[in-house]
Parts: sequence; structure tokens; C-alpha cells
Amino acid sequence: MSNAMFGTFLIACLALLYTCSSATTVEYDSSAIILNGERKLIISGAIHYPRSTSQMWPDLIMKAKDGDLDAIETYIFWDLHEPVRRKYDFSGNLDFIKFLKIAQEQGLYVVLRIGPYVCAEWNYGGFPMWLHNMPGIQLRTDNAVFKEEMKIFTTKIVTMCKEAGLFAPQGGPIILAQIENEYGDVISHYGEAGNSYIKWCAEMALAQNIGVPWIMCKQKNAPATIIDTCNGYYCDTFKPNNPKSPKIFTENWVGWFQKWGERRPHRTAEDSAFSVARFFQNGGALQNYYLYHGGTNFGRTAGGPFIITTYDYDAPLDEYGNLIEPKYGHLKRLHAAIKLGEKVLTNGTATWESHGDSLWMTTYTNKGTGQKFCFLSNSHTSKDAEVDLQQDGKYYVPAWSMSLLQDCNKEVYNTAKTEAQTNIYMKQLDQKLGNSPEWSWTSDPMEDTFQGKGTFTASQLLDQKSVTVGASDYLWYMTEVVVNDTNTWGKAKVQVNTTGHILYLFINGFLTGTQHGTVSQPGFIHEGNISLNQGTNIISLLSVTVGHANYGAFFDMQETGIVGGPVKLFSIENPNNVLDLSKSTWSYKVGINGMTKKFYDPKTTIGVQWKTNNVSIGVPMTWYKTTFKTPDGTNPVVLDLIGLQKGEAWVNGQSIGRYWPAMLAENKGCSDTCDYRGEYNADKCLSGCGEPSQRFYHVPRKWVLMQPLSMRLSKQLPLVLCATADYEKTLELKCPEGKTMSEIQFASYGDPEGSCGSFKIGEWESRYSKTVVEKACIGKQSCSINVTSSTFRLKKGGTNGQLAVQLSCGGSNPEDNRVQSLLA
Ligand SMILES: *[C@@H]1O[C@H](CO)[C@@H](O)[C@H](O)[C@H]1NC(C)=O
Ligand SMILES: *[C@@H]1O[C@H](CO)[C@@H](O)[C@H](O)[C@H]1NC(C)=O
Ligand SMILES: *[C@@H]1O[C@H](CO)[C@@H](O)[C@H](O)[C@H]1NC(C)=O
Ligand SMILES: *[C@@H]1O[C@H](CO)[C@@H](O)[C@H](O)[C@H]1NC(C)=O
Ligand SMILES: *[C@@H]1O[C@H](CO)[C@@H](O)[C@H](O)[C@H]1NC(C)=O
Ligand SMILES: *[C@@H]1O[C@H](CO)[C@@H](O)[C@H](O)[C@H]1NC(C)=O
Repeated sequence: MSNAMFGTFLIACLALLYTCSSATTVEYDSSAIILNGERKLIISGAIHYPRSTSQMWPDLIMKAKDGDLDAIETYIFWDLHEPVRRKYDFSGNLDFIKFLKIAQEQGLYVVLRIGPYVCAEWNYGGFPMWLHNMPGIQLRTDNAVFKEEMKIFTTKIVTMCKEAGLFAPQGGPIILAQIENEYGDVISHYGEAGNSYIKWCAEMALAQNIGVPWIMCKQKNAPATIIDTCNGYYCDTFKPNNPKSPKIFTENWVGWFQKWGERRPHRTAEDSAFSVARFFQNGGALQNYYLYHGGTNFGRTAGGPFIITTYDYDAPLDEYGNLIEPKYGHLKRLHAAIKLGEKVLTNGTATWESHGDSLWMTTYTNKGTGQKFCFLSNSHTSKDAEVDLQQDGKYYVPAWSMSLLQDCNKEVYNTAKTEAQTNIYMKQLDQKLGNSPEWSWTSDPMEDTFQGKGTFTASQLLDQKSVTVGASDYLWYMTEVVVNDTNTWGKAKVQVNTTGHILYLFINGFLTGTQHGTVSQPGFIHEGNISLNQGTNIISLLSVTVGHANYGAFFDMQETGIVGGPVKLFSIENPNNVLDLSKSTWSYKVGINGMTKKFYDPKTTIGVQWKTNNVSIGVPMTWYKTTFKTPDGTNPVVLDLIGLQKGEAWVNGQSIGRYWPAMLAENKGCSDTCDYRGEYNADKCLSGCGEPSQRFYHVPRKWVLMQPLSMRLSKQLPLVLCATADYEKTLELKCPEGKTMSEIQFASYGDPEGSCGSFKIGEWESRYSKTVVEKACIGKQSCSINVTSSTFRLKKGGTNGQLAVQLSCGGSNPEDNRVQSLLA
């Protein structure tokens, strides 16, 4: 850090003296992040601001704080902020400055990953698509046009943060910033230009003078002035390229994402905790959950191809912001345990001692004070172990777990022993939408495209992305065929080769075929039999994309749509008679008319006639509309779109994302049991086989409350909590804010069987079980029960039992009504 840089901040601070009372200096060495001279271990969690609404931010960030995080992390989403070149948008849900200030108010630090390439399963990796068509541009390499755009945007973001006083030396929360993202994965494909690009990124970033360190993830050749960091399920064996850098785990994948047609992933609380603990056992300094809250890919922000609308990620906070237990609570307890060792871990020396098969005791000792903190790890995938801790006799360490030991003999935490409650969020039907007279519909007006009328022509089949520039998922490709001889061409086979992702084929205004690709094969060759008339026939091909690629070398160049074709006709009468239309004159039109005319917006009344008779759900290229009453209370509102095909849904004019409940997940590879032991991968512990990849869609309260209308539909989530506690332990339960415990669904001290949702009384129980729990919990937001002989009036022999409880949280208040419209 240069003096000149501090000079700048000093001036800024003098001008705003009252806001910069607590400037923080950020330094580091190989074992700690050093804030104001204090050696720290930082636990951080990612929350992406555009994947929720500004209304949800305070609650999400408060829950991050309650989960004992020190910091939150977010990317910056360039495509949303600069949708048109040099026309910026930082309003509403894009007001990232406000988001960061909420974090600051909660006393959290911020890791700001500017990118501006972010990957993130986000459309086009977060790049605005207009970049693609700039003359002479090549993305993510040593290219002057690209570098200039990247620099202008990065500088814009840095300047906004400086002006808001958000960097730590200014008294703000930002302690680290990131430039580029996982470029190390693809650098080899860019040759020497890749190396010089990374050098340039580093220089450009450092020249921003932000007063806090810059990081790059997965960048083995990052310059020594930048910290190279690790992403993955585990990063314990990672070593930064510069031995003086701290060990940073920028993305601990606490779950995984889904594509349309994929099953639901799950990473256990036990294994997530094991990964974090292993990282700190091995000298980690900063660990970030990717993600702490995943949220929703609203609108068309999902990347691709085929990333689904929910970005729940099996994160500790679910898509709607609910606590996912036991993950959330189990990790919270881990954070507290790690903090007990912080002083020794950041200022001590580690010694490793083997205790046999895959068992290691790692002892951190402060040479001056003699203080100790230990990790005892058992990385065997099936063998539990017992270890002699001096003073403490045989100590039990389950397989694939790690204990944190204060003074090296007292367990403060074990990654496999979850004590947190389990929460189940049930979707309760509030209003029914299906096949009711409350639906109205209208066909998308397609007359112009049925007549082959577009906005420009070309004698070739173009790349869809280059034509639409992301303005729409839809592109019409239209051409004419003049038939002189119906004997030959009256019946023909049509063949369309497309790179994907969905195709509709219309001949003279009649839909004659549709087809879609899949995750493993986004492109396909569509074949169909058609009838052609004497004279002019119009072939209208509607190509639909489902998210643009966001990852891989040259992902930005991946072509979409019917680019290059070929599109061919084969005479049925004589299959040797082939007409290749690929070089015919093709007329193009971006988007569909209903979208241009805003049929999705309830304020649109001109140019649309909603019909209420003969409603038939599932007719392609049809808009559907209904209204529903806002469900009572403050619980998340969820739309169940089962029965619909593929489309986009809006509520009060706000797009809640693409839907595709007709796309079912593969019907194999799921299992009822999930073993946390052994290395996690995204094929482990899957669920949802044979079910829609996504059936339920989040409607943020902010959008439901926008404008009152009338009628009914939708869903809400009351809550079921479970917890168990052994003899002499304490059972703790907590309902969300504003809710109280309303019904004890199960309570048994004894040897209860089953798990949350399916508890059963075992061979014996205390007959006071239910009364004790009712007395302690009903009507309260939280309760705790000490499992002792006196509480349950236990006789001898009753002290080896367990208390299991399942209860529901209730309490709500009414609100009013909204509209909703869809396209299938
Ligand atoms: C690190 O430990 C040594 C020895 O106990 C002590 O003198 C020193 O002050 C500690 N440093 C920090 C930053 O706590
Ligand atoms: C029909 O005749 C026109 C004019 O000669 C010609 O351009 C066109 O290719 C013919 N159509 C077919 C299918 O052969
Ligand atoms: C279809 O298109 C793909 C990519 O555009 C190409 O690789 C393939 O050869 C084409 N197939 C046929 C049968 O033309
Ligand atoms: C098209 O027609 C041919 C012959 O009439 C038939 O063999 C073929 O199965 C049909 N193809 C489709 C896709 O219907
Ligand atoms: C509704 O459908 C029936 C049967 O298909 C048809 O006879 C009738 O004309 C339709 N009504 C309207 C108004 O389209
Ligand atoms: C449970 O035990 C703890 C420690 O003995 C005590 O502080 C607490 O008040 C007890 N809680 C209840 C609900 O009895």
C-alpha cells in the first residue's frame, strides 16, 4: 500500500469526518487476515443481491450475521448494470451500494468479487451481450477493445464504492476485492495472450488504489501482489502460489445447481462442516460459502444452456430465505468453535501427529503463552475411531469427521454430531389456479411471421445470439418455397439442424412440429412430414434459447439457434429430390409480438383481447392470465406450475423466471439414504428422480404487493421443526420471527425411531413427554428443554434415552390481491 493511496483516503475522510470514524487497515500474512493489526480468521458467505429483492436483503443479511458469519461476499453483475452501453442501472434490486451498506450496518465485512466476468450460472457469465457484437472484440483475452470495456466498468464500480466510503480504509466494510474469475481453468486455451491478459488484469486492478488486497481465484500465475485462491468442495490441500499469501477458500460449494432435466443435489451439513474444519486444520485464513443464500434466477438471468430458475443451491438459507436446518445451525456452531481457537490458530505453530488409520491430531501452540487448540480428524470413509486424549480417556471420533478440541482435550465441536433442529418447509395450498374459469387466454399475434415478414433479411442462417443480442429468447427464421409441381413437393420431409435449444416449425401458419434439446445434447436435428401448396409457401421457424453459456474457454463464442443449418426439404415421392434452403433468403424477427406489446404487464390494455371461453392450458404460443389473492401473512409466496409446459411467468409485470415443469429429471440414481461419509460430488445424495426439475416458483412479496387486483391463487409455507437431544443435553427449538409454536406433532423421550416427518414412538417412553414439551414450548417463539431425570421423572434405566420433538410454527395476518400472467 503506497502513501499516495492513503493520502487519497485521508482527504475523503476529512470531508466526511462523521462517517469515517472506524477506518480499518487490511493486511495479511500466510496464516491470517490482519485487520487493524488483529490477526483474524474470516468466515464469509455469498449472497448475490440480484437473486433476491431489496426487500429481502435486511433479513438475509441479518440471518448471515446470526449464523456467525464475519463477512458476506457478492459478485457484481455487469449485464444488469449496463444493459445498454454507457446506460447504467443501479436502481431497486440493483442498488448494490445499499446492499453493502446493510451488511455494514449489521457489522459484517464484505468480499467484493467484481469480476466482471462472474460465471455464477448467470446468463453469458455476467457479460452484457452487446460486448459480443463490438467490432474487433475478443472477450477475456489480451484484446484492446475488451480490456477498455472491462476497465471502464471496473473503474465505475470502484469509484461508486469509494464515493460511498465502502472500502475498509475509508471506514467501510470491503476488506477484499476480486478481479477476473477462475481464469486459470481456461488460460491454456488462450495461449500467450492469456498470460499477458492476466498480467494486465492485475495491473489494472492494483492501479485502482482501493487500499485493500485483490484476489484472483484459481490463478496459479497470479502476480505476487495478488492473492491466488481456491474454489471447490474441499480446499485443505490447496497452497497459494505465493507462500506469503493467506490461504483463502473463495468458494466452498455447500451444494450445487440444477439444469432442466436434472435431479436435486444435496450436500450434507456434516460434510460441509468437515470441509470447513479441514480447511482451518490446514492453516486456512478465510473461508467463503458458495452460497450462503442462492436465491432465484429471475427473468432471463439464468445461465446456460438449461440452468433452471431456482438457484437454491442447497445453501444454508433456502431460495426463499428460510433457514435450512440442520445445515444452518450446525455451521453456526462450527463458526463459534473455530473462533474459540482463533488466537492460537493465527499465531501458533502446527504439529501433526498420526493416531493410526487416517487419524490425525493437529496441535496449534502459541509459543509464548503455551495455549493450545487442536483438530482431530478422521478422514476414513467408514471406520469410526477412539483416541486417547490425555485426561479424557477414550474419545470417540466418527468416520469422516473432525473434532475441534479446546486445550486439545475438550470437544467443542464434532462435524458429524449435528445438534441443530431440522426444519421442514411445507408448501400449503392456499388457492387453486388449475382449469378454472378464472383463467383467460390469448394467442400470441403471429400473423406477420406466418407471412414471413421480418425486420431484415440475409442469405444465410445466422447465429441467434448475434442477432438477438440477448434482447429475447425468441428468434424467427422465415423463408419462402415456391412449389411448381405438387406431385413432387406436395408431400415433403423437412429437416432442420439447430444448435438449440427449442424449435417450433410453422408451415403457412400451421404448427407442424416442435422439439427441444437436452443438457447432454442442446442441439438436435428436427425432422417432420409436411404438406406444401402449389405456389408460394412460407416456412417460419421459431428458435428459442434457454440461457446462454456462462462457462468454459471461449464460451462467449458458442453459437445458438439454427446457425448454418442446414435446413432441407426432401420430396417424399422421390427422396433423391432435395432442396437445400440454407442459402435461401431468410427473413428475421427478434422476439415475439406479445412480448413486444407487453402482454405480461397488467397495465397493458391496448392491442390484447383476453378470452375467457374454451380455455385449454398447454397450447403453444399462448398467453394465459389469472388473478389471485395474496396469501395471508409474510411467508414466502410460491407458485405451483405443475401441468404447464415451458414458458416465462410474470406476476404484476415482474418476470419470476422461465418455467418448465414438464421437463422431468432422470428417473434413476436417487436414494432415500444419504451417507455424509466420503468425498462429496454433485451425483451424491440426489433426490427428485422422475419429478420436474422445478415445479415451484418464487414470487417475492415485494412484487405481489405492487398493485391490488382481485381473486385467488398461490401458496405459502408454514413450518415444521424437529430436534432431538440425548440425556443430559439441552433441546433447543426456534420458530422464525413473528411465529410461535402452535402444535406439538410428536414428542417422545425414550427410544424414538425414524426422523423428522416420520418419527415413531419406540419400545419405551416417558409418559410425561408430550406434557413437558407442551408446557415448555406452546405459544413461544423459542424454547429449550433440559433432558434430565427430573424433567421427565425418569427411574433408573431411563437415562440412556433420547428426546425427539416435531412441532409446527403458526401465526399470521391477512393482506390483499394480485394478478399473474403466463406464456406456455
Ligand atoms: C503472538 O504470540 C506471541 C507469543 O505469545 C505474542 O508475543 C504476540 O504478541 C502475539 N501476536 C499477536 C498479534 O497477537
Ligand atoms: C419453381 O419455379 C421457380 C421459377 O422457375 C423456381 O425459382 C423455383 O425454384 C421452383 N421451385 C421448386 C421447388 O423447384
Ligand atoms: C448440424 O450442425 C452441427 C453444428 O452446427 C454440425 O456439426 C453437424 O455436422 C450438422 N449436422 C448435419 C447432419 O448437417
Ligand atoms: C414421414 O413419412 C414417411 C413416409 O410417409 C414415414 O415413413 C415417416 O415415419 C414419417 N416421419 C414422421 C416424422 O412422421
Ligand atoms: C369453443 O369450442 C367449441 C368446440 O371446439 C367450438 O364449437 C366453439 O366455437 C368454441 N367457441 C369459441 C367462442 O371459440
Ligand atoms: C437448563 O440448564 C441450564 C444449566 O444447568 C440452566 O442454566 C437453564 O436455566 C436450564 N433450562 C431450563 C429450561 O430449565
